[in-house]
Formats: sequence, C-alpha cells, structure tokens
Amino acid sequence: MINPVIRPRRLRSTPALRRLASETRVHPAELVLPLFVREGNESTPISSMPGIVQHSIDGARRAVAEAAAAGIGGVMLFGVPAVRDATGTGATDPDGILNAATRAVVAEVGDALVVQTDLCLDEFTDHGHCGVLAADGSVDNDATLLRYNDMALAQAQAGSALLGLSGMMDGQVASVRATLDAAGYADTAVLAYSAKYASAYYGPFREAVQSTLVGDRRTYQLDPANRREGVREARIDIDEGADVVMVKPAGSYLDVLAEVAAMSSVPVWAYQVSGEYAMIEAAAAQGWIDRRRAIEESVLSIRRAGADAILTYWAVELAAWLTETDAR
Ligand code: PBG
Repeated sequence: MINPVIRPRRLRSTPALRRLASETRVHPAELVLPLFVREGNESTPISSMPGIVQHSIDGARRAVAEAAAAGIGGVMLFGVPAVRDATGTGATDPDGILNAATRAVVAEVGDALVVQTDLCLDEFTDHGHCGVLAADGSVDNDATLLRYNDMALAQAQAGSALLGLSGMMDGQVASVRATLDAAGYADTAVLAYSAKYASAYYGPFREAVQSTLVGDRRTYQLDPANRREGVREARIDIDEGADVVMVKPAGSYLDVLAEVAAMSSVPVWAYQVSGEYAMIEAAAAQGWIDRRRAIEESVLSIRRAGADAILTYWAVELAAWLTETDAR
C-alpha cells in the first residue's frame, strides 16, 4: 500500500489552516483606482469597460470620496479633454480638465488617499501619441520631454502627490525630477511606468479617453517579447530618481514583474489594464467565469508575483470584499 509521509494537503484541509498558511494577502491600502474625468456635467459610460464611466468633475469628487471611505490607497486620474491639438495644450493649461479635476479632488479628500495623475500626452494630442511629432511624423523624444516638464509643473501645482510618467520617453524621469526640484516641488513624487509594453490590452482605454491613435506605439513602448529590457528600463528609472517603478500590463507580464521586484530598491507597482478588466467582465457577463473569484485571483496573482501596490479598476469593489473576508 502507498502511504505518503509527506502530505502537503494537511495544510489545505480546513479554512482555518488555509488562512494561516496563506503566503500572500491583498490589503485595500495597496489598491489604486484609475479614474477618467471628462469635461461637462454628465458622467458617460464606457461600453468596452462595463461598470466604468467617464466622470464629470463632480462625479469624480464623489467617486474619490467613496474610494477614500473604502480605505484604498489612492486614485490615478486621467483627463478626457473636449478639444485636442498637435502638442496637447490641454495638458499644461492650469484649467485643463486633468488639472482642474485634480484640484477639485484634492479639495474633496485632502490626503485621505494619494491623488495621482497620469503624465502623458496621448489623451491630449489629436494624433493620439504620447509625445509631440517631429517633421517626419516620428515621436520626438527630447521635444516631448519639454512638454512633460511643463505638465509636471501644472500637475504639481494642481496638487497631485505622485506623477505617473507613462509616456516611455528616454530620460523622462530625470527631466521631470530636475524640473520639479528647481521649482520647489521636491516633495512631489514620481511613479515611473518603467516597463510599459506595446500591448493590445490597452484597447478599451482608447474608448475610455476617446483617443484615436495614428499608427502604433512600438517605437517607444516595449516589445512584449522582451523581459530583460523591461528590467533594464526599471533600473534606468531608479537611477534617474523614480520613487516607484511600475510594470504594465500586469497579468501577461508577471515574469517581468517578479524580476523587477527582485532587483528593485524602490516600491514596484503593477497596472491591471483596461483589457484585463474587459476580458474578465465579458466572460463573467456570459456566465463563463465566476466574476468575483476571477477578479480576486487575478489581483492576488499580481501581488504574489511581487507588486507592492496594484492599479485596478476593481479597487473599490475588491476593497469591500477584502474587508468582508477579514471580518469572517
Ligand atoms: C498613457 C496611458 C495608457 C494607459 C495608462 N496610461 C494608454 C496607452 O499607453 O496606450 C492604459 C491603461 C489601461 O489600458 O487601462 N496615457
């Protein structure tokens, strides 16, 4: 008769043992909710992201108050401007939608949670690229840095505590850090989207910010084939002074995340992006997947791979579930 001496199933045999033996936990404080804010007084649903809307500024205030009450760690604001142009003027206008929304939201919640802003031009340009274009149509790295510097000042002035540099321009962290320091914003922190891949999973985001992209982003975002290069980008950003580095998307890049987490001297975050959200919502709506379990498992896995905090569109709902589970 076979009688195994080593029986790992023992630790799985009761809920109490499983709870005590759990290696990874997600806490509401580690969750960040991305929020879209549009001009005008109406909130508008985003069809490719069921349950997510473009908020009016008032709607955003309410959403952020709700997020603070849920105990999550922060929000990441994205602006949806009514008008776009070649250089993304709306991004640096103090009254542009993102800067106005930031002021309103900070006035609402103070520092009950961390109000963060996306620092990138794609929401504001008419061509949808993350930077300004050179005469030949390519994205001009160094000219874009000047725009990012101005955006950083506008966002810091509006009260953003953490600037999410998501444009993937070379030198963006050093450039923005030097600009902030010279202007007296030494305490405004920089979150570098270091390993940001040229991903199909950003698809629903385009609808969320109503941006149409001319061409693709492969000349600045990373090739999904490259792990080492993702780690290199994180190292460069840490050396340039990033306070936090990020891997994005999350679910398909857990290997990159684990490797960055192993080498990083600063916190490592991950962004569970719009397409990851849409896939689970769509499958759950068909009854093909258990929605709650899939959401919990997907976020737990990102945490297990090494993320210290996670940007997820489910942040508030998940925080409520986590609080329930804790109380059980
Ligand atoms: C850039 C930015 C994007 C996302 C976050 N910041 C879009 C992109 O680079 O194409 C995507 C987030 C998501 O898909 O949920 N402003």
